Amino acid sequence: MNEIRLKDKKFELFLSEETVIEAIDSIATQLYKDLRDKKPLFIVVLNGAFMFASDLIRRFDFPCEIAFIRLKSYQGLNRNEQIKEVQGLDCDITHRHVVIVEDIVDTGHTMAYLSAKIKEKAPASLKTVSLLFKPQAFQMDVEPDYTAISIPNDFIVGYGLDYDGWGRNLRNIYKIKD
Ligand code: IMP
Ligand code: MG
Repeated sequence: MNEIRLKDKKFELFLSEETVIEAIDSIATQLYKDLRDKKPLFIVVLNGAFMFASDLIRRFDFPCEIAFIRLKSYQGLNRNEQIKEVQGLDCDITHRHVVIVEDIVDTGHTMAYLSAKIKEKAPASLKTVSLLFKPQAFQMDVEPDYTAISIPNDFIVGYGLDYDGWGRNLRNIYKIKD
């Protein structure tokens, strides 16, 4: 399937499942070394990061905890200025080695918002990991600590990422066709 349709838009194949998995293997190796003794607390940003988080964290056999937060900043193709916390955190962060797990860092506002919120709660350390990173769209100062794949500034779907709720189930990543 090289081309797909979701609602009113067409998308073309951009990154195959194999490419994504290889990239995850490679950052997982780095993360493993850095986290294995730390009993980290992974905070997974829903909805988009569910598939990435599952493939990533499954590679770790050291003690860790996993928590979820649900944020919303996109409507269709456009980013809302306001970040909405649809489901908050209910775990203790103080003195923990926290790792935020994101699907994609685009403008960087979501990651900056969440990082600031977590830092207020005095973690022992805070690292950020994102499957995808759009350097040309990025507007903040601090880049994610670990990025699996940097991509151009195109709207993409699949592997957890959606267009208006659709396409999260796709194994490959597709980019919008104009
Ligand atoms: P940021 O705050 O602009 O960095 O956007 C981050 C959030 O927007 C991500 O966690 C995604 O959920 C969503 N997002 C950003 N770019 C895309 C995209 O190309 N496709 C689907 N969702 C995206
Ligand atoms: Mg997200």
